[in-house]
Amino acid sequence: MPILTIESTCDETAAAVISDDGRVLGECVATQETLHEQFGGVVPEVAARAHVERILPVIDTALRKAGLQGADLDAIAVADRPGLAGSLLVGVVAAKTLAVAWKKPLVAINHLHAHLYACQMASDVSVYPCIGLVVSGGHTSLYHCTSPLDLEYLGGTIDDAAGEAFDKVGAMLNLGFPGGPAVSRLAAQGDPNAHAYPRSMLKEPGYRFSFSGLKTAVHYSIAPPGVKDFSNINLSDQAKADICASFQAAVVDVLVAKSVRAVKAYEAGFLIVGGGVAANPVLRTGLQTAAEKNGFQLVIAPMNLCTDNAVMGAIALEKIRRGEFAPLDLDITAGLQRGF
Ligand code: KG4
Ligand code: ZN
Repeated sequence: MPILTIESTCDETAAAVISDDGRVLGECVATQETLHEQFGGVVPEVAARAHVERILPVIDTALRKAGLQGADLDAIAVADRPGLAGSLLVGVVAAKTLAVAWKKPLVAINHLHAHLYACQMASDVSVYPCIGLVVSGGHTSLYHCTSPLDLEYLGGTIDDAAGEAFDKVGAMLNLGFPGGPAVSRLAAQGDPNAHAYPRSMLKEPGYRFSFSGLKTAVHYSIAPPGVKDFSNINLSDQAKADICASFQAAVVDVLVAKSVRAVKAYEAGFLIVGGGVAANPVLRTGLQTAAEKNGFQLVIAPMNLCTDNAVMGAIALEKIRRGEFAPLDLDITAGLQRGF
């Protein structure tokens, strides 16, 4: 029987109905970009209130697309970590309520593991064991994965996440929110060698990342230290494009180098990459070139499964196979998940 998956960790309200063999029977994503755009970033309270309004229509739409009702489901799965507290709560409370009303078991999903599972969903063969790279708005983390549910954290960012850096650079250049897609579009017109931005921690052994210094370097090429209001910056379109291209090249260089380092150290046959920044075309090409050069298989999440969605919640099927259900007093685990 199919399962219902619910995602509300940040600013996307999403639900999907997945068959027990992993086929997507129905799905729906409601984004909140226009709500947060005016603030230049996700406002947690605004996000939580929007989830409240949207969660039931979104679930309803996913079920309708699948032509199913609550009684037809085998389980209700929901992302309970990591993320914004108010946002997570809406999804978890909805899932628990439906589980009680429809008398269905509850399954808890780790949103980061789900981002990586999107890669397995796109592959005909098992990608495990592998190295997993999560690059999203809140996380930049490398894992050694022996199964979809067994992940050893190798290292991650010590400050900003890659997506966060894209968003902040986009904000400094007045490109709107979220900055990632806009920065990558503009970067296509720019020169990646125009600015020699730092490749932070590249030479340091291990798998730690840092993007805060890079963000500051970009700041100083836009405006002098101390400037906090970028609304009046006066740069040509070409100058903006060159900054975007050079910034993007610096991010991609470290992401590719540390991923390859992990693949080699663990003699992994596969590298899997998920999260919003995995939609970045230059990162995708850079990883592909590295895979061909170093002889490993690369599986990047399909474009529609990079940013937040409920389809990747199909990882719940793996938990059900293991008999790992959540209690009805399931609580959220909010905040960032770093170091494990
Ligand atoms: O995975 P996601 O939807 O949400 C989190 O779990 O955080 O990732 C969102 C992040 C944002 O920071 C967004 O700017 C970034 O992914 N992003 C991109 C691109 N598309 C989305 N970053 C770089 N290039 C892109 N094309
Ligand atoms: Zn995400």
